[in-house]
Amino acid sequence: AQILSSISSGISHTNSVENGYTDLDWDNIGYGVTPTDYMYMMKCSKDEEFIDGQLIPYGNVELSPAAGVLNYGQGLFEGIKARRREDGRIVLFRPDENALRMKVGAERMCMPSPSVDQFIDAVKKSALANKRWIPPPGKGSLYIRPLLLGTGPILGMSPAPEYTFLIYVTPVRNCYFKEGSTGLHLYVEDQFHRAFRGGAGYVKSITNYAPVLKPLTNAKDRGFSDVLYLDSVSGKYIEEVSSCNIFIVKDKTISTPATNGTILPGVTRKSMIEIARDIGFKVEERQISVEELLEADEAFCTGTAVVVVPVGSVTYQAQRVEYKTTNINSVSERLLSTYDAILNGQLGGKNTGWLVEI
Ligand code: COI
Repeated sequence: AQILSSISSGISHTNSVENGYTDLDWDNIGYGVTPTDYMYMMKCSKDEEFIDGQLIPYGNVELSPAAGVLNYGQGLFEGIKARRREDGRIVLFRPDENALRMKVGAERMCMPSPSVDQFIDAVKKSALANKRWIPPPGKGSLYIRPLLLGTGPILGMSPAPEYTFLIYVTPVRNCYFKEGSTGLHLYVEDQFHRAFRGGAGYVKSITNYAPVLKPLTNAKDRGFSDVLYLDSVSGKYIEEVSSCNIFIVKDKTISTPATNGTILPGVTRKSMIEIARDIGFKVEERQISVEELLEADEAFCTGTAVVVVPVGSVTYQAQRVEYKTTNINSVSERLLSTYDAILNGQLGGKNTGWLVEI
């Protein structure tokens, strides 16, 4: 059955193209959805393989009301950025890692997944087809959002009979958080949890995101940037922020919670661990108590959307700790500038293999 079939938004762009760019206010890109020109769609039935993906005009999608994703949350998403460089090249950062993570997630959520090659090819095509929406160098990136959805109708508790791999893209500013370089104000949540042992915290399931909206909204209403969750067994160890992974620095040693099943193995997290080791830091992946966080010299978050962002303060119960974020020699600054140099092609070596030019 052709469940997810028609494109019915009627969205049309009147933007003119100047110098290869659409006429957006590039100095004021936000983190919202700007409709672009094309999206990518590929389908398959349960127990089959994805074939015949294609670019289609950007727009709304039609779904069965009984779609597995709508009723039982059978879905995954990914996030990748395409960056336009000063040298005119357009690069993706480690899309193979996102493709592999989607495969792991698909296995957990009982879905077929595109092959790594299909995934990368689709990401490249989606970015190229929307090239005029890729921000000028330094102004931001094209955020690429691949989705894997159970779109076939299902009422009993079973994997859906049909799946859709869908990619849309939208231009975004450099950091997800407006308070980017001045530091995030994190609220340590001791009532709600993001993930639990045996759950799906280690994959990018859509079901990991709606449940954090309540603690996140509560915290935002109180002026915080985001929420840091604790492990659901003891409530003593830090795990992850709603939108990113967390690191602490103490006496020049960098530590981040180990990926033990409840933490998303971020591509930026993994890359920052490798970069930090390459530039001489000791990096530990282990359990980190809230007390250690409160006593750290520095804390920062990583993720595709946030890239690397310093933590300005942490509030846990009645305690609030502030960190210095303006130090240009901070670990997060050094990691961010090394990451930028890699993306801009100013650092050779093994990291050149991280970039995929489109
Ligand atoms: C990303 O960093 O790509 C994410 O998925 C985080 C999201 C909340 C924007």
